[in-house]
Amino acid sequence: MEDQAAKLRQLVGDETSKPKESFFSGGDEKKTRVIAVTSGKGGVGKTNLTVNLAIAFGLLSQRVLVIDADLGMANVDVVLGSLSKYHLLHLLDPDIKLSDVLIKGPYGVNYISGGSGIEKAKEFTADERSVLMDKLSGCGDIADIILVDTGAGLGKNVMDFILAADEVLLVTTPEPTALTDAYAVMKAYSMRAENKNIRLVVNRVYDESESEDVVIKLNQTSKKFLNMPVTAAGYIFEDRKVAAAVRKQKPFLAIEPDSLASRCVKAMAESLLYGGEMHIKQGWRGFLNQIFNFSGK
Ligand SMILES: Nc1ncnc2c1ncn2[C@@H]1O[C@H](COP(=O)(O)OP(=O)(O)O)[C@@H](O)[C@H]1O
Ligand SMILES: [Mg+2]
Repeated sequence: MEDQAAKLRQLVGDETSKPKESFFSGGDEKKTRVIAVTSGKGGVGKTNLTVNLAIAFGLLSQRVLVIDADLGMANVDVVLGSLSKYHLLHLLDPDIKLSDVLIKGPYGVNYISGGSGIEKAKEFTADERSVLMDKLSGCGDIADIILVDTGAGLGKNVMDFILAADEVLLVTTPEPTALTDAYAVMKAYSMRAENKNIRLVVNRVYDESESEDVVIKLNQTSKKFLNMPVTAAGYIFEDRKVAAAVRKQKPFLAIEPDSLASRCVKAMAESLLYGGEMHIKQGWRGFLNQIFNFSGK
């Protein structure tokens, strides 16, 4: 705990600090784990999960790279509170190299911006796809884990990213509309993915059993109609500190490391790295927060 707190202070205190290894120090590309974070419905918490999970992995001494591939509503840099000159689509320019678009962001998060405010991107042509793939392939050398924040839904760009990833985290909330849209992604994925590796993250739950109910429901339907069982990678509690952090343009894990949402994301990162299921106790404060729907401030 102490050790983690010290690391976090270091990350928060020295935002310009460079990662120990140089960006291009090389490494074994095969070991890089690529995790796409996606959802059926927008606004369910993908970007917050991606950014905070990246920080949590960093605390566990992983070299992490975030790629903001939500081309419609890219906002990794908004959540991080960072400004970037170049973004992902600049890679299509022959003069722009991967190193030009790689950003050493705050809190030790290295990322490629999706370019917030860019027009909803058209789907790529085959040529554009191959340019992007070629240039992005260099990312494997600089990260142990690459987190790809994709857009929501079933567009071709989104499907390309999730089909190309080793594993997929499908974020949903317990709302019926989010569940229906999550199921649509599971269906499209089940029909096209060669190695099926998709897990649910249930966001904005009030207790663990709410998450379990969602997973049981989706798993039953998925097994029956898609012949694809699904499990959960974890859950995140409803926590007002999330929205408060977003307003400050700071990741909640950096400014509220002991909040419920932060503890969930840290536990999820450990479970993703070392296996085992995550269990978070809400504790007395969580109990009161839930009863009075109050999270301080
Ligand atoms: N665990 C949570 N508790 C409370 N509010 C949340 C939580 N997760 C997300 N939110 C709210 O949802 C909004 C959208 O989250 P975001 O990560 O931008 O979603 P997406 O990337 O899927 O569009 C956040 O700005 C925040 O207000
Ligand atoms: Mg987003």
